[in-house]
Amino acid sequence: MCYVTGPFRLSGADLFHWRRVAMLREFLISLRTRCAPAFVRLGYRYAAVACVGRAARCAAAWAPHQESSRRRILTAMAEAPADRDTAVILGAGPCLDLPMAELLSRFRRVLLVDIAHPPAARQLARRHAAIELLDYDLTGVAIALANDGTLAPPTPSCTVCQDDGDVGLVISANLISQLPLVPLRQVDKRWPNTDLPAYARAIIRAHIDHLRGFDCPTLLIGDVQRRVIDPDGRVTEMEDPLFGADLPVGEMEWDWTVAPVGELSNGWSIINRVRAVRIDRAYCVAS
Ligand SMILES: C[S@@+](CC[C@H](N)C(=O)[O-])C[C@H]1O[C@@H](n2cnc3c(N)ncnc32)[C@H](O)[C@@H]1O
Repeated sequence: MCYVTGPFRLSGADLFHWRRVAMLREFLISLRTRCAPAFVRLGYRYAAVACVGRAARCAAAWAPHQESSRRRILTAMAEAPADRDTAVILGAGPCLDLPMAELLSRFRRVLLVDIAHPPAARQLARRHAAIELLDYDLTGVAIALANDGTLAPPTPSCTVCQDDGDVGLVISANLISQLPLVPLRQVDKRWPNTDLPAYARAIIRAHIDHLRGFDCPTLLIGDVQRRVIDPDGRVTEMEDPLFGADLPVGEMEWDWTVAPVGELSNGWSIINRVRAVRIDRAYCVAS
C-alpha cells in the first residue's frame, strides 16, 4: 500500500529535515520514472515514486514480505507449461518482490507491465534483453479519466497480454489494492454522486476477470486487510482494501508491516494482511 492516511501528525525538527531529504530523493526518482504525461497528470507517477520511497525507508520491515512473495512466485513458476517461454508481471514497479534471476533463467521473455516504470525497472531492462517494459493501465479506465470530455465514470476492463500464446506465467504483484486509488480520487472529484465503494469493487473484479482470462498459471499476491495500530499496540481500524470484492481462499497468507513504527509519527503503524492465490481457470477447476 502506497498511501497512508489517518490521524498522524508530523512533528519535530528532525522529522522535518528527514522529510525534506526524502522529498528531494523522490523528486530525482520521479525525473527518471517513465510514465505517459496524461497519467502523470492523474497522479500515477507520484504514487509509484512514493511507493519506491517508502520501500527504501522501510526496507527492513518490508523484506520478509518481499521474500514471501518471491517464494510463492517460484512455486507458481514450477507449474508453468514447459513449452511457454514468456512471463508477465502485472504491477512490476521496482521489482522488489520478484525472483528476477530465476525468472530470467526460466523464461525467454519477461514482460514487466506497469503504468509507471521507476528507475530500477528501467535499469533491469537495459541490462537484460529478455526484459520488456510495457506501459499499460491495468484498470482500463485511466485514458477515459484523463480525457476532460468523458461524461460518466468509465467501465473498468482489461485484457492486456491475454492474446499472447507464449505466456506461461502471470503474476499480479502486490498491485490489486492500488488499482482503485487514483480512479477513486478522479471519479470523486468529477462525479461526486458516484457510489465509490461499488466503483472500487468493479475495478478489483475487472482485475480478477483479467487474470482469469489467461490459460496458464496465474498468481495473485495482494493485500486483503489493513490494520492501523496505535502506539500501545491496539488495532484501532481494520480496513478492507478490496472494498468487499471476494478473493478465493489463498494457499499462503502473511503480514506485511507496510508502515513500521517510525514511518508514521507518534508511534502509529500499519500492517497489511497479504494473500497469495492462484486464480487461473485451470487451477480453480482442478482444486
Ligand atoms: C505496491 S506497488 C508494487 C510494486 C512491485 N510489485 C514491488 O513490490 O516492487 C504497486 C504498483 O502498481 C502500479 N499500478 C498502480 N495502478 C496501476 C494501473 N492502473 N495500471 C498499471 N499499474 C498500476 C504502480 O505503478 C506500482 O508500481
